[in-house]
Amino acid sequence: MAVRTIREDGDEILRKKSREVEIIDEKIKELIDDMIETMHKANGVGLSAVQVGILKRIVVIDLYDDKGPIKLINPVITKTKGEQEVEEGCLSFPNQYGRIVRPAEVTVEALNENGEKIKIKAKGLLAQAICHELDHLEGILFVDNIIPGTLHYVEPDEK
Ligand code: NI
Repeated sequence: MAVRTIREDGDEILRKKSREVEIIDEKIKELIDDMIETMHKANGVGLSAVQVGILKRIVVIDLYDDKGPIKLINPVITKTKGEQEVEEGCLSFPNQYGRIVRPAEVTVEALNENGEKIKIKAKGLLAQAICHELDHLEGILFVDNIIPGTLHYVEPDEK
């Protein structure tokens, strides 16, 4: 496993659309392991492959609870319900946060690293993280959708 470099705001790859994974081979599994290590080192709750420079539809999420880390390959949101206004940040925008409206609940279908179909019903922070990471696969960044005037900087030791 290895920590990869996280691409940051201004890197044009973050605006590109990621492609479906066709074959889950050893290289993909190694990428997923590296993404998890990279996310953990950065104390993040989610990371998409594009953020380490790979345009593939893969995301990892870890809320540091008994469910994680969650690995989603070719994820699709099949259902959303309600709304929640939440504080959000992104590992590609160090120390920047804003308020955003996300669905309160989502259902996501994907493949896991063994190629098995999985379905996760999520609410709260997990629903927020799923929406945020799936946006990355379309080249959408959280700053595109934050409530105007809410973007602010927080020094790491204050958070
Ligand atoms: Ni992000």
